[in-house]
This record gives sequence, structure tokens and C-alpha cells, in this order.
Amino acid sequence: KKKIETLPDPFKMVEKELKPFADSIKELVSTDQAILSNAAKHFFEKRHGKRFRPTIVQLMAKAVAAAEPEKIEVNGDGGWDASGASDVTVNESNHQGSEVWRKQAQLGQIVEMIHVASLIHDDVLDEADTRRGGEAVHKLYSNKVAVLGGDFLLARASLLLARLENTAVVQIMATALESLVSGEIMQLKSPPETLVKMETYLRKSYYKTASLICYACRSTALLGGHNYSSTVATACEEFGFHMGLAFQIQDDILDFTAAENILGKPALADMDLGLSTAPILYAAQEYKELQPLIMRRFKKKGDKQTALEYLYKGPDAMNKARGLALFHAEKAVEALLRLPQSEARDALIRLTYVVITRKK
Ligand code: FPP
Ligand code: FPP
Ligand code: MG
Ligand code: MG
Repeated sequence: KKKIETLPDPFKMVEKELKPFADSIKELVSTDQAILSNAAKHFFEKRHGKRFRPTIVQLMAKAVAAAEPEKIEVNGDGGWDASGASDVTVNESNHQGSEVWRKQAQLGQIVEMIHVASLIHDDVLDEADTRRGGEAVHKLYSNKVAVLGGDFLLARASLLLARLENTAVVQIMATALESLVSGEIMQLKSPPETLVKMETYLRKSYYKTASLICYACRSTALLGGHNYSSTVATACEEFGFHMGLAFQIQDDILDFTAAENILGKPALADMDLGLSTAPILYAAQEYKELQPLIMRRFKKKGDKQTALEYLYKGPDAMNKARGLALFHAEKAVEALLRLPQSEARDALIRLTYVVITRKK
């Protein structure tokens, strides 16, 4: 096993290629409604965030170009093949600058637009006033503008998605959108007795976080000329699934352990929202007294404080949560190892490590 630092830097590897797409997004979200443009553009200029998702899509695009497309006959699931991309065979050497590459890069941009739309709406739902180190869109404008701004971004993302001219990819990404909404509603409405279950938490995390990246990775493979049921497309999806879960679990750990000024968004916010995440759920397995607090979503005065005391009573709960993030990171790497070796694949391995060690 190679040392992580010897693997290629994922962000450096795609920096130049992301640049034109990062710039063009401003045009893509232009409209004669200035307030919509401005609200939408807000997160694509100075406060563009980590750009994890387009980075993943771009790297995945390179990684799948290094794999020979499989010749599998698809039957009975019409439309679920690599239609639209199969007439040209891309490989590692002719991929960059090709039509396939352009569409995959567009997909990365679409995913970031969907992500930003969901964050704008999320901050309304969560009543969170800061995002990416500044004011949330609903604070800068109003709830109404934030709702419409998010909708507008979603509308533009749908248009760009249609322009990829690949109906399978449209279906997959539409399903991803539905998952995001399911995750949010689960978080809002899950019955009390399910809240103490790790399974509920993981399922919600899949919908809310992992689905977008998981479907985006599969779509990248399809755009790259790989079949719906190919080993490559499946490996991509599996990578996204585990990477997404590792990402969310780490995010939930950081909610407890990181400072607000480093996160760029409110810290210790999950319990305020009545949410129990991996660290608390592990603590509750050890200390059953926590379960009623979880079930009533920390509504009684002093609940938050009590929960924190139990959480830090032993080192176990937080360590178990870290272990869970690591487990999913390892699964993500296992999936990547089913792709042929390439610089991009190795950069994705390194990125997986970055995700579980990140501090913001
Ligand atoms: C952030 O989670 C929220 C999401 C990843 C999903 C939000 C989804 C919706 C609001 C559904 C609507 C979807 C679209 C596409 C408009 P978090 O609140 O745990 O994270 P945070 O700490 O970054 O706020
Ligand atoms: C903030 O994203 C949003 C969340 C923590 C919940 C949603 C997360 C995902 C959809 C993650 C899937 C991504 C990967 C890498 C598997 P963020 O912290 O990326 O925010 P930013 O865009 O502001 O940096
Ligand atoms: Mg939130
Ligand atoms: Mg939320």
C-alpha cells in the first residue's frame, strides 16, 4: 500500500479543467431578473465552497476513460444503455477535450448547481444564518427570494441536463433530486421510535447526501460510454455511495468537534434542530438514558447539555463514529480498486482520505 501523500493531488489535477466551467456558470445563471441572478450567482463567485462534487465528477470522468467499455447486451431495460456516447470510443489519451469529456464536465457543473440549490433551501429549512463563511442567501435577501433562487437554479440545472441528450442520465439525476427531498422529509418527520436507530440515520444520510454523488458517478460512467450494468458503472456508483456516507458522517462529527469560524457555518447545530447523528447514536447504545432525549428531539431544557455529557463520558462514541466514517471510506476505495489503475483513480483514493480527515 502506497502512502497517501504520494498519490496525486485531486484538486490540483482538475484545477485547470474546472476553471472554464466555474467561470461559465455565471452566464448559465444569468436572467433578466437581476435579483434571481444575483441570489443564484452568490455561491459561484467568491464563496464557491470546496467544489468537492465537480472535482469528483471530473476525476471520475478520467478514471472511467482508462477503462475499456464492456460489450454487454442490455435487454429489457431500454434506454438504460450508454446512448449518445457510444459512437465514439474514448480512452485515456483522447478523452481530454472530447465531446464526452465536455458532457461529463457539464455534469459536474450541474451537480454543483443542484448542490447549491439544495443548500440555499436547506438554510431556510434549518434557519441557519451563515453559509460558506458569510450570510446565507435568505439572510442577504429573504426567505421568498431564497426559495425562488433555489428553484431557479434547479430549473437551469434541468435545462443543462436535458442538453446532455442522454435520457438515462436525465432519469438517474432526476431520481437523485427526489432522494434529496426524501432525505430532508425523513429528517423532519421520522417517528420518534425510529430516531434512535442507526439504520434510520444511515438511510437518511444516503438520501440526503450520498445519493447525489452516487448517481452523479454512475452518470459519469454512462456518459463515458459504459453500459448501465457494466462493472465500471457499478463500481462508480458504489464508490459514490460509500464516499457520500463517509462525507456525511465526517460532517456530523465536525458538527460536534469543529469551531464555527472554521466551519463557516453554525456549529453544534444538529441537536438544536432535534437531530441525532452517529456520535450521539453510539453514545445512546452505551447509555440507554439518552434514548428518550433523542426521541423527543432534545426539546426539554437541559437536554442538549445532558446529551453532550454522555457523549464525552467515554471516548467510545466519538471513536466509533470515526470508525464508521473510516469503514465507508475503505469501502469507497475498494470500489475504486475495481477500476484500472490511473492517475485519476489514485487521486480519488486520496480524496477519499481527505474527506474523512477534513476539518471543515
Ligand atoms: C445539507 O444538510 C442539506 C442537504 C444536503 C440537502 C438539502 C435538500 C433539500 C433542502 C431538498 C430540496 C432539494 C433541492 C434540489 C432544491 P445539513 O443541513 O445536514 O448540512 P449543513 O450543516 O451543511 O447545513
Ligand atoms: C455541505 O456540503 C453539505 C452537506 C454536508 C450535506 C450534503 C453533502 C453532500 C451532498 C456530499 C456529497 C459529497 C461528497 C464529497 C461525497 P459541503 O461541505 O461540500 O459544502 P460546500 O460546497 O460549501 O463546501
Ligand atoms: Mg443545514
Ligand atoms: Mg439540513
